[in-house]
Amino acid sequence: MQAAVKLLVRLGAMSVTVTGPVGNQSANCMPILRALPHWFGIPSALDAYSRDIDALPTFVARRDSQACGFLTVKRHFPQSAEVLVMGVLPELHRRGVCRALMGAAERWLRGEGVIYLQVKTRGPSQPDEGYAQTRAFYVALGFTPLEEIPTLWNGANPALIMVKKLASD
Ligand SMILES: CC(C)(COP(=O)(O)OP(=O)(O)OC[C@H]1O[C@@H](n2cnc3c(N)ncnc32)[C@H](O)[C@@H]1OP(=O)(O)O)[C@@H](O)C(=O)NCCC(=O)NCCS
Repeated sequence: MQAAVKLLVRLGAMSVTVTGPVGNQSANCMPILRALPHWFGIPSALDAYSRDIDALPTFVARRDSQACGFLTVKRHFPQSAEVLVMGVLPELHRRGVCRALMGAAERWLRGEGVIYLQVKTRGPSQPDEGYAQTRAFYVALGFTPLEEIPTLWNGANPALIMVKKLASD
């Protein structure tokens, strides 16, 4: 496995460091999810995310040493992985933090031999401005909507699978 990297990324007037992949990050990352209740408001789901963030490879963006964004990935097969959970503090949205996190994660995954990266998010059949913005982020970063599965989670929360090809097979 490749070593973790630490990068200094300049985003306009702001700088962040992006570190990863690292484990045991729930103490740093859970405050970010709690600041995003529209997406992460279900207590049992938060508990599961906390366990995943500790157990799985995570990329963390820090501003002035404080975690301000993160992204956790799960490897399903040697050629495929998933962005399991990600978030950026609301006051820093649209500053390029998650683009920097995704870039670092994709470089690492490519080096590990991953070809396809998927994400699951709420699909367009249940209109919601917040999730429309989430999907716009994924599309801007090169993900393509693949399939909406209404029954994967629950009727109020149709799951959209999006996929990005990271390397030629
Ligand atoms: C989705 C999220 C992680 C994006 O993080 P971010 O750091 O704000 O995103 P970036 O600034 O790196 O955006 C990169 C590009 O994505 C697109 N984008 C990001 N936010 C967008 C929005 N609200 N509306 C439309 N496009 C958007 C833009 O093309 C943007 O580039 P630009 O600003 O140069 O036009 C952040 O909005 C967030 O925390 N959302 C809530 C949590 C969430 O949705 N998690 C995923 C659950 S499935």
